[in-house]
Amino acid sequence: MTLRVLTGITTTGTPHLGNYAGAIRPAIAASRQPGAESFFFLADYHALIKCDDPARIQRSRLEIAATWLAAGLDTTRVTFYRQSDIPEIPELNWLLTCVTGKGLMNRAHAYKAATDANEATGEETDAGVTMGLFCYPVLMAADILMFKAHKVPVGRDQIQHIEMARDIAQRFNHLFGQGRELFVLPEAAIEDSVATLPGLDGRKMSKSYDNTIPLFEGGARALKAAVARIVTDSRLPGEPKDPDASHLVTLFDAFATPAEGEAFRADLRGGLGWGEAKQRFLEVLERDIAPMRERYDALMRKPEAIEDILQEGARKARATAAPLLAQLREAVGLRRFDAIAVTAGTAPAATGSATQAPVFKQYREADGQFYFKLSSADGRLLLQSEGFAQGREAGQWVARLKNEGAAAFAGLPARFADGVSAEDVAAELARFAQ
Ligand code: TRP
Repeated sequence: MTLRVLTGITTTGTPHLGNYAGAIRPAIAASRQPGAESFFFLADYHALIKCDDPARIQRSRLEIAATWLAAGLDTTRVTFYRQSDIPEIPELNWLLTCVTGKGLMNRAHAYKAATDANEATGEETDAGVTMGLFCYPVLMAADILMFKAHKVPVGRDQIQHIEMARDIAQRFNHLFGQGRELFVLPEAAIEDSVATLPGLDGRKMSKSYDNTIPLFEGGARALKAAVARIVTDSRLPGEPKDPDASHLVTLFDAFATPAEGEAFRADLRGGLGWGEAKQRFLEVLERDIAPMRERYDALMRKPEAIEDILQEGARKARATAAPLLAQLREAVGLRRFDAIAVTAGTAPAATGSATQAPVFKQYREADGQFYFKLSSADGRLLLQSEGFAQGREAGQWVARLKNEGAAAFAGLPARFADGVSAEDVAAELARFAQ
C-alpha cells in the first residue's frame, strides 16, 4: 500500500531560509521517495483566520506557490493545490463540526493561548477570538481526513491538531461507519533530524524575532546583505575561532557537504576571518539558491502559469475528494430522494423505475394493528405481514428484508401470497441491493 503524506502551508508571509531548509526542502525530498503519494496544499482558508488584508493574502499565496515550484516540486508526482479550490473541504468541515465536542475545541492550544492572554490583561475571555480561530482544528481535520492521509509532516506545535483530527475521525467512523473505516486515522510525522535553522542572532529563525534571511525576496543583493548581518563574536582575522559556538557554522552546514563543513571548521580554528567566512557561506548558499531564484522570478512574471498548475492540482485533488464526500453524505443520511425505496403508506406506487425494485407499504388497519406488505413493481402482491402492536416492529422487519433479503425469512411474521414462492420473493428483494 502506498503511504499517503499530506501537509498544508498556511499562506501568510513570505518564505525565508528557515522555511526552506526546515520544511520545503525535506518535504520535496520526501515526495520523491518511491512508495509515497504526497498531497501538498496552500492552506489559504486557514490564512483568513489570521489575516484580513486581501492584498497580503493574495501575494502570499502566489509567492508560496512560486517558491515550492521553484524549489523543485514535481507536480506530476505530487498533488499540489489550494485548499480554497476544493469545495468538498468546507462541506466536510461542516459534517465534522457536527460531531466535534465544543469541549475538545476549548482545549486547543491556539484558542487557549488567546483566552489566557485575555485573562492576563483583564480582558473578556473571548475578546478578539473569532469562530474561525476557535474551530481551526476542525478545518484542519477536514484537510487531512478528506484525503485519507496516513502521515502528516508538521512542526511540534501542530501535534495536538493531528490528535484532534484522529479523535474526530474515530467519532465519525463510530457514528456513521457501520463497521467500515470511512476515515483513516492520521499520524503526525515530526522530523527531528531536520534542524530548525538559527536566524541572524542565533535564535530560531522566525519572522516574530525579526532575524530571518530571505529566500528569494530582494534577490541576490538582499541575501548578501542579510548574511553580512549574521551575528558573530568579535575575534579578528588570524585569531582562532570556536566553530561549535558559531551559528554561522550551523547555517553553513545546512547548505554544504560534510567535507565542506569539516574544512570550514578547520579554517575557522586556523584563524579564518568572519568576513571571509560569510563570503564562503554565501557561495554555498548561492550554489543552491541562484538556480531556484531564476525559476522563481520567471514564475512570478507568469502568474497565469502557476494558476494553470494549481487548477490541474485542484482537479486531481477533487477526483479523490468528491467520491469520498458522496460516501459521507450517504453515511450521514443526506441522500437523494429518488434512490430511496418507498415505504410510506401514502407514497405513490413506483412507476417502472430503472431498478424495478418491489415496493413495501406500511399501514394501519381498523383493528388498530400495524401491517406491511410487499408488492412487485408491477403491483402484484408478494408478501403479507401479520398485525403488529407497534408500527416500529413492522418497520424493523421491512428494514431487515431490504438489507438481508431471504436471510430475514426465518421467523418472519408474514406469509407469501398465493402462487408466490420464497425464491420469487428472494429474487425481488435482491433488487434492493442493486
Ligand atoms: N495549521 C498548519 C500550520 O500552521 C497548516 C495546516 C492547515 C496543515 N491544514 C493542515 C498542516 C493540514 C498539515 C495538515 O502549520
